[in-house]
Amino acid sequence: MRLHHCQNFHDFRELARRRLPGPIFNYIDGGADDEMTLRRNTRAFEECDLVPDVLTGLGEIDLSVKVLGHKLDMPVYCSPTALQRLFHHEGERAVAHAADKFGTMFGVSSLGTVSLEEIRSKFSGPQVYQFYFHRDRGLNRAMLERAKSAGVQIMMLTVDSITGGNRERDLRTGFAIPFRLTLGGMLEFAMKPRWAIDYFTHEKFRLPQLDEHINFGSGASSIGTYFTEMLDPSMSWNDIAEMVKQWGGQFCLKGVMSVDDARRAIDIGCTGIVISNHGGRQLDGSRSAFDQLAEIVDAVGDRIDVLMDGGVQRGTHVLKALSLGAKAVGVGRYYLFALAAAGRPGVERALGLMRTEIERDMKLMGCTSVSQLSRAKLRFR
Ligand code: LAC
Repeated sequence: MRLHHCQNFHDFRELARRRLPGPIFNYIDGGADDEMTLRRNTRAFEECDLVPDVLTGLGEIDLSVKVLGHKLDMPVYCSPTALQRLFHHEGERAVAHAADKFGTMFGVSSLGTVSLEEIRSKFSGPQVYQFYFHRDRGLNRAMLERAKSAGVQIMMLTVDSITGGNRERDLRTGFAIPFRLTLGGMLEFAMKPRWAIDYFTHEKFRLPQLDEHINFGSGASSIGTYFTEMLDPSMSWNDIAEMVKQWGGQFCLKGVMSVDDARRAIDIGCTGIVISNHGGRQLDGSRSAFDQLAEIVDAVGDRIDVLMDGGVQRGTHVLKALSLGAKAVGVGRYYLFALAAAGRPGVERALGLMRTEIERDMKLMGCTSVSQLSRAKLRFR
């Protein structure tokens, strides 16, 4: 199978599986514990049916939405994800380029592999900075100031990762950062030569948001160890209220799952929340974001932008979330597999297919704009 044969998430995933060394593929693909939440995230959409209107005399379809103070040309954005140049040498550069082309939002992670300044200077955005709150408060302040000076538009603090999720696939494969050319690595090199040549003939792997502060080179560290040893489990609403003030702009909490926490986010001055269980990678058994969406939108949707992510693979998934009141929907693995499969053309194809699906599905639903989607058009089984 080649890129132009890829029609959906499953095709990109399969191409990525063939191209990536096993530990890297499984790092992207896997979740925590029994991966119940990972599976549930996509299944949740299957328990919700769409009820279309017909003969509505459709005109032009407008896919744009306004979220966190920015207009997006489509209601899907690329969630910030870590380690992108490990998946394909173009990494964040490819993702930012594709997102820019489709007029949507993308994120650079604290564990990103290209500097937030480089990405900010090349693309008009809107760019999100995915922030991890470290034990070292000085580091947090320095990271925040750096993102501010770079002109990043949206701060997105991840709140569901104060300790590492139990990713048993990674424990089994020994997935670590930086990826090392161990004996096992040599074997992977032999088995996946295209990936290996790509990885070893390009700019050395770095984590430019953090490498002045944290020495990742001194010993292979798992993502779980980083979360558990470096991040601050004592982070509290007071700490974040302070951070929201220091930032003084669009501030979004990623990983809120309850109405009470959504209310607290408003109280401390946040402008957005992403309902998310981190793609099923942290607390297994956590409810799906889609299942939590309605009650959170009902409670706070008129006071804060409610976004969601998790398990989104199809245009119809996006329409269902928007119908429940999400302002926009994030994808992670969907574009990462496409990135791993083919770099920038891969991500562009993935976003293009998604846009085409949403547009087609809007027509089939009898809607010309996102604002016409509503709960009246949904039924739950
Ligand atoms: C993960 C982090 C890094 O889920 O977001 O692996």
